[in-house]
Amino acid sequence: MARTPYVGGNWKMNTNGVSGVELAANVARAADDAVQVAVFPPFPYLIRVGEALAGSGVMLGAQDVSDQDDGAYTGEISTAMLLDCGVKTVLVGHSERRHVIGESDELCNSKVLKALSAGLDVVLCVGEKLEEREAGQTDAVNERQIRAGLAGVSAADMARVTIAYEPVWAIGTGKTATPADAQDAHAKIRTLLASMYDQSVADGVRIQYGGSVKPANAAELFACPDIDGGLIGGASLKADDFAAICQAATASAV
Ligand code: 13P
Repeated sequence: MARTPYVGGNWKMNTNGVSGVELAANVARAADDAVQVAVFPPFPYLIRVGEALAGSGVMLGAQDVSDQDDGAYTGEISTAMLLDCGVKTVLVGHSERRHVIGESDELCNSKVLKALSAGLDVVLCVGEKLEEREAGQTDAVNERQIRAGLAGVSAADMARVTIAYEPVWAIGTGKTATPADAQDAHAKIRTLLASMYDQSVADGVRIQYGGSVKPANAAELFACPDIDGGLIGGASLKADDFAAICQAATASAV
């Protein structure tokens, strides 16, 4: 099944008001219709970045979302607030939130359900730590995080869910999974989705690879049959590198 490749730029806690808008304007200029592109700026810049993206087809995303509607949750950001800022999609369960902030599979699931019910798309991030990989637990960790993260998500809502496979040991380290290893993990994730839903749902879900994707390695990763684009950290902060990665995704779609 032909899936439109999807490339996301996760800016993490980087940029400022000026550089974020400039970066967004460059991403908007470089975007082409063959690839779905999203950027995930820091919360304070969402509105300004959204204005810079207007009319470009690049989706505005947020790096996190609360699982609560409103009330006494200091520091949290609700789905309604994100929608108010023009956000269309959210990351849930990024490894830095799971392993640095301490988010559980259950909290990630609650966020996924809240975001989908509010009409937002979701990119559910999963992936194993180095010690889990060395212990041969890669597929088991992905399975646990996906089964828990998607509990209660309907087959219909899976049309608004993307999975980002981001091996923790590859994030920000310069180490990338080999295309063969990444493809193997992605294929197993797709098989898992087929067993949880059905083959047509599994065939429709985009599975992004994330972890030290750069212009030099993007093409060979995106050429793999079950790798449908990438979630990019460091290289998404450089407009030229991000554009080159998006072009590699365009080429993979042909
Ligand atoms: P890097 O591309 O910097 O390794 O980060 C990947 C990532 O965490 C994207 O969400």
